[in-house]
Amino acid sequence: MKVIVKNNHKEVSKEAADIFEMEIRNNPKTILGLATGSTPIGMYKELIKRHNEEGLDFSSVTTFNLDEYLGLDPNNPNSYRYFMNQELFNHINIPIENTHVPLGEEDKAEISCKVYDSMIQEMGGIKLQVLGIGSNGHIAFNEPGERLSANTSIVDLTNETIQDNARFFDSIDEVPKKAISMGMGSILKAEKIVLIASGENKAPAIAKLLNEPYISTYLPVSFLLAHKDVTIICDEDAYSLVK
Ligand code: GLP
Repeated sequence: MKVIVKNNHKEVSKEAADIFEMEIRNNPKTILGLATGSTPIGMYKELIKRHNEEGLDFSSVTTFNLDEYLGLDPNNPNSYRYFMNQELFNHINIPIENTHVPLGEEDKAEISCKVYDSMIQEMGGIKLQVLGIGSNGHIAFNEPGERLSANTSIVDLTNETIQDNARFFDSIDEVPKKAISMGMGSILKAEKIVLIASGENKAPAIAKLLNEPYISTYLPVSFLLAHKDVTIICDEDAYSLVK
């Protein structure tokens, strides 16, 4: 596991964008794994800038997102599909049909879970995956607990995650209690993984991961310790509790 510490979120974003840019330039038909949350927004801004100013070409790129809230349709401004369109896809030249986000609508969610992992594998698998991290150490929506799903499935969100994510909603009551999430097994199949973390609320989870290398379902991010190609890019605040 390679760890890079940067001064701030902007530098974290640029470093991560460098890795993504290199992947896209070396392999224009690459398959990228993408994440939501506030942390990757800076990286997406960088990639949009590089598309506009340096011609970074997304026309043959395919993407798969990690997760989606259950019950939100793609036009709901709080859905992750809406987020991805707003924060990235609408601003680059990726054909929208090359972009995949699990389908959150109640009547489509179950079938979406069933086909998501096989779709990824049939297309050749994810070459480069970006991950954020929840303050409780969750990855995508794989929450700490007695067990973690291996494959894409419908999961319950913890109160901590509901509270953390309430800032994006008008009220905490509007935050869905369930989501569709790629499983830990689905995520670990990616060839390369870049985890980005910024801010002091991520410091306890990053410290747990790096201070003592153990793997536990109670710290989902710890499964990355079993992967052969992970780069963690943190800012100083997120790194501040590492010994
Ligand atoms: C959500 C997403 C995660 C993301 C996390 C952290 O729970 N499902 O994929 O890593 O938020 O978000 P933020 O970057 O806003 O702290």
